[in-house]
Amino acid sequence: MSERETWATRAGFILAAVGSAVGLGNIWQFPFKTAQFGGASFLVVYLIAVFGIGLPAILAEFVIGRRAKLNAISAFGRLGHGKWRFVGALGLLTGFWILSYYSVVGGWVIRYIWGSLQGAYFSDPTAYFGAISTGVDAVALHAVFMFLVVVIVALGIKDGIEKATKVMVPSIIIIMLGLAAYGATLSGATAGYDYFLSPDFGALMANLGEIVPFAVGQAFFSLSLGMGAMITYASYINRDDSLVADGSTIVVLNTFVGVLAGFVVFPLLFAQGIDPNTSGPGAVFVSVAGAFANIPAGRIVGLVFFLVVLIAALSSAISLLEVVVSYVIDNHDVGRAPTAAAIGVSLFVLGLPSALDTAWLGWFDTLAYQLLLPVSVLLVLLFVGWVLGGEALSEVLKGTGLGNGFGLTWLWMVRVVVVIAVLGTLWLGIQTLFLGPEPAIVPPL
Ligand code: PFF
Repeated sequence: MSERETWATRAGFILAAVGSAVGLGNIWQFPFKTAQFGGASFLVVYLIAVFGIGLPAILAEFVIGRRAKLNAISAFGRLGHGKWRFVGALGLLTGFWILSYYSVVGGWVIRYIWGSLQGAYFSDPTAYFGAISTGVDAVALHAVFMFLVVVIVALGIKDGIEKATKVMVPSIIIIMLGLAAYGATLSGATAGYDYFLSPDFGALMANLGEIVPFAVGQAFFSLSLGMGAMITYASYINRDDSLVADGSTIVVLNTFVGVLAGFVVFPLLFAQGIDPNTSGPGAVFVSVAGAFANIPAGRIVGLVFFLVVLIAALSSAISLLEVVVSYVIDNHDVGRAPTAAAIGVSLFVLGLPSALDTAWLGWFDTLAYQLLLPVSVLLVLLFVGWVLGGEALSEVLKGTGLGNGFGLTWLWMVRVVVVIAVLGTLWLGIQTLFLGPEPAIVPPL
């Protein structure tokens, strides 16, 4: 078996992890929920959730990965707890499951890139979305998206994922800044910012029971936790730099892109008098697309917008394919490229129902988001907190210069606080699952 690869640089690891984190979750879900849940006052809750819950949890995954230097399943065995391998297997399955339909959405985004150039969706965005989101087109573009993901992963850690994300992540930030600057010139800018960020404590307090679990769930999904991705990426680290510093950088950048997305989307919608409230999760494809129809240089702005969404989706998707590829090549004497291709084909097949009927896509997404993800995160936390315990503590302190007090605070957060938070979201998720699922990803048609 050839030697296991590592990241060439520390920045390479950080950018790859940010690439995984920044995805549709940030550009699509985050701004709308922020606006709906009380703007700036929600941001405060979200920041508490990402730093108080998301950061300790991402560190837990990093600890497993870097300490074991093996894929998300075998890592548990190398750490001397082979019985817990099922936790890694659940994460891998969750990632595989999510990637199958994420790729279908990635295909839609590709379609919208050239749809923007042609102005194809300008006259009737809703009908356009209905026409392209399922059927032959959706299947073909799902294949194209998956193919791009396979190519990057097939090239390896240093030459594929690291090189790609080193370009992709800065591009996402630069393009989003450019779009936000463009948004500022639109007539809807002030109204858009107002809608997005004006603090509304009334809305926050009235819906706290829904908001807190959302903030926690979003923190996990957005940081790509519970999918084996962060365990796998951390397993390619070959140095003992501070995981706390790296994790904090990733959390900050991830939140920053979400906020930036709000500065892009809302001026566009308000410039066109489109009510963001009615747009919901389908906003990117229906209302935001609709906004491009009438603004100056709409075709180009639309193209750039969907391009940045595509880059974000790709840099997330590669992290999930890598979880599976890494497991296979760590354990079998097979090449990375054929492995990536074979897994890509299976993902394509698993995604077919979602490409043929958005109801399937909604069901896949609901099951992943409400059940698989929280269970997977919960098990990882229990493992790191209660089984690895002191070993995890010394791993997390490496390179930080921080004392045991910090380490113990982290450990008890993982053991108790974060676990309670996940149990809360899981409880609500299960209720949603059985009391009428509300697909998070499918636009209301
Ligand atoms: N953090 C990602 C996001 O916010 O979109 C979550 C993710 C979803 C990662 C799907 C990878 C993926 F394929």
